[in-house]
Amino acid sequence: MNKINARLKGFYCLHCGERFRVADYLTGCLSCQQKSLPVSLAPYYQGTGRIKNNQERMFRYGEFLPYPDFPSLGEGSTPLVKVKRLAEKYRLNLLYVKNEFQNPTASHKDRMSPLVIARAIALKRKIVSAASSGNAGVSLAAYAALTGLKCKIITQPNINPIWKRAIEKMGAEIIYTASSEERWTFLQERVQKEGWYPATNFITPPVGSNPFGIQGYKTIAYELYQDLQGQLPDWVLIPTARGDLLWGIYQGFKELQEMKKFNKFPRLVAVEPFERINKVLAGADYRLDFAGDYRLTPSVGGTTVTYQSIQAVKDSKGCAVNILPEEAEANINEISSCGLYLESSSALLIGALKKLLKQGLFSENDCVVMVATSSGYKDLPQI
Ligand SMILES: Cc1ncc(COP(=O)(O)O)c(C=O)c1O
Ligand SMILES: [Zn+2]
Repeated sequence: MNKINARLKGFYCLHCGERFRVADYLTGCLSCQQKSLPVSLAPYYQGTGRIKNNQERMFRYGEFLPYPDFPSLGEGSTPLVKVKRLAEKYRLNLLYVKNEFQNPTASHKDRMSPLVIARAIALKRKIVSAASSGNAGVSLAAYAALTGLKCKIITQPNINPIWKRAIEKMGAEIIYTASSEERWTFLQERVQKEGWYPATNFITPPVGSNPFGIQGYKTIAYELYQDLQGQLPDWVLIPTARGDLLWGIYQGFKELQEMKKFNKFPRLVAVEPFERINKVLAGADYRLDFAGDYRLTPSVGGTTVTYQSIQAVKDSKGCAVNILPEEAEANINEISSCGLYLESSSALLIGALKKLLKQGLFSENDCVVMVATSSGYKDLPQI
């Protein structure tokens, strides 16, 4: 267990292309950093991997992951649900929900945590940590509990008590900082001075979450490809904060496109509570701080974007859609009427679907997938 994938050859800088050997570059490319350029890195692999259909869940895609064998709570292989009622209403023949809340801690983060933990174990680290007010914290706590690692979740005092209880029950320690920004400085200090292994971002402008972990999100792309009988969807709608999930899914599709020689590429839509990616696409500097109200959809909150999420949206010929959090309740009602009770942040997908339909972007036979990242059981009733 926790043996590194021999195909993984290193990391490359998305901006200058410089290649680095396999290691942890948690603050990105040094030469680009010195010039205040984008610093994000992504892994690259040698040769072609194989999907192993005789294996279960995410292990099927082990040859595409940095650690093919990782601690598991049964994550992945989530259902692709055909939402017939919505499909009829909106005249889309192929409308699906990828139901990520069927993961062990009821969010997509369970595809990232096992790989972060596998890396931490390989490095013989004893403490893993995340700056998170929700799903990432719960998920990391669960996989740390599974493997006996210590887990520290850095959050703010206003953390939703549902997540707080889950994190504590799974034995992780919660550390409070007064502001969201202080979570990052606190984590950075512990990583650099005490060797805590981080699952999440801690620098500004953000470089994104742990790249070993983000590789886990590629499995969503692989599962969609297999569930759609060897086809790629036309559109994938993704609830987005800083864009880790979007970037991971993009990398998965990119590998599939190269491997299977697809002419087409799914158009990725970042669904956000207010304009961040949208502003950058319209010309704003991606390093800016984007103010907006996300109290009703905290899981896709935050005021920053990542360079790679912008690249992924642009390269896929996708777009960003911002849905006012006030619309969350109506969106929750609409998707719940199909039997899928989503966290408010995920329910914004419905608003995005309607907005794109209004813009006439879909044709009747387009395959549209909405990635439902988390369950409505996590929302407080006052939402
Ligand atoms: C429910 C939910 N949806 C989506 C996201 C996507 O966030 P990101 O764009 O940072 O990957 C998150 C992450 O915190 C989340 O908790
Ligand atoms: Zn660089």
